[in-house]
Amino acid sequence: MNPMNDVAVIGLGAMGVTLARLFLRSGRRVTVWNRSEDKARPLLAEGATLAASAADAVRSSRLAVMCVYDYHAARAIWAMEGVAAALDGRTLVHLSTGSPEDARRALAWAREHGGRYLDGAIQAAPSQMGQPDTPVLISGDASTYAAVAEVLKVLAGNIVYLGDQIDAAATMDLATLSYVYGAFAGFVHGARLAESQGLDVARFGQIVNAISPSFGAFFQHEAAVIQSGDYRITESPLRISIEATQRILDSSRAAGINTDVPALFTDLLRRAGQAGLGNEELAALIKVLR
Ligand SMILES: NC(=O)c1ccc[n+]([C@@H]2O[C@H](COP(=O)([O-])OP(=O)(O)OC[C@H]3O[C@@H](n4cnc5c(N)ncnc54)[C@H](OP(=O)(O)O)[C@@H]3O)[C@@H](O)[C@H]2O)c1
Repeated sequence: MNPMNDVAVIGLGAMGVTLARLFLRSGRRVTVWNRSEDKARPLLAEGATLAASAADAVRSSRLAVMCVYDYHAARAIWAMEGVAAALDGRTLVHLSTGSPEDARRALAWAREHGGRYLDGAIQAAPSQMGQPDTPVLISGDASTYAAVAEVLKVLAGNIVYLGDQIDAAATMDLATLSYVYGAFAGFVHGARLAESQGLDVARFGQIVNAISPSFGAFFQHEAAVIQSGDYRITESPLRISIEATQRILDSSRAAGINTDVPALFTDLLRRAGQAGLGNEELAALIKVLR
C-alpha cells in the first residue's frame, strides 16, 4: 500500500462521482463514501473501495477530497461519529461551494482536530472536469497545497492557488458569480430589447458569444487598473459609458419594455459622472461603490 497514492472521496453526487472517477482513472486507490450508499455502486465496479463510514473513509488515506451539496451537508458529515478524530494528521480538501465564513469555520474545525485543510471552489460542470483548462480555485496553507497539488491536477488542469488566506477561494468564487449574474441580467435585458423589436434572439446570442473573449480581456485590464489605483484613461473613458447606458435606458423606455436593469447601471454611471469621474478610465466606477 502506498498511502501517497491513496485518496478518499466523500460525497458522491454528480460532482463527487466525477472526482472519484478521475482519481480512479489516474491509477489511484480510491476509497469512497456517500450518505446514500447506492451512489457508490458504479464506482465499486470501476475499482473503488466503499468505506463503512465517513470516519473510515477519512482514515483510509492521507488525503480526503470532499464535495457535497453545501456546507450544511459538509458539517453534518463532519459531526458524524469518529470523523473529527480521523482527521488528525490528514489533509482535507473541501470543494463544496460555500461562503467565506463557511471556509473560515471549516479551517478552525479542522485545526482543532489536528487536520490540514484546503478550501476550494469548482468553476466547472461535472462533464468539464479533468480537462487542461478546468478552473478550480484553491486557498489555504501553502505547504499543504504544495503536498497535494499534483494529485489535484487530475481533477482540473487550471487550478488557481490563491494563497494562504483560507476564504480567498470562496470570495473569488462569489466575485466571479457576481460578474456572471451581473452580465446575465444585462444579457437578458438585451434579449428583451431584441425581442421587442422583432429581432432574432438566437442571433443576439451569437453576437454576444463573438465579442465575449475581447470583453474578458477588457475586464482583466480594468481589474488591473483598479488594483493599480491609476485611473488615467487607457482603454475606455467613463464618460462614454454614461452616454451609452443612458441610450440603452431611453431606447428601452421608447420600446415600452421593462427598464430595471438599465436603470441600475445608468444610475451608477450617472453618479460617477456627478462625482467628476467622467474623464477617468471606466474602472473608476468602483469609486462609487466604495
Ligand atoms: N454539478 C455542478 O455543475 C457543479 C458545478 C460547480 C460546483 N458544484 C458544487 O459541487 C458541490 C456538489 O454538487 P453536486 O452537483 O455533486 O450536487 P448533488 O448531485 O446534488 O449531490 C449532493 C451531494 O451532497 C450530499 N448531501 C446533501 N445533503 C447532505 C447531508 N445533509 N448529509 C450528507 N450528505 C448530504 C448528497 O448525498 P446523498 O446522495 O445521500 O443525497 C450528495 O452526495 C456543490 O457545492 C456544488 O455547488 C457543482
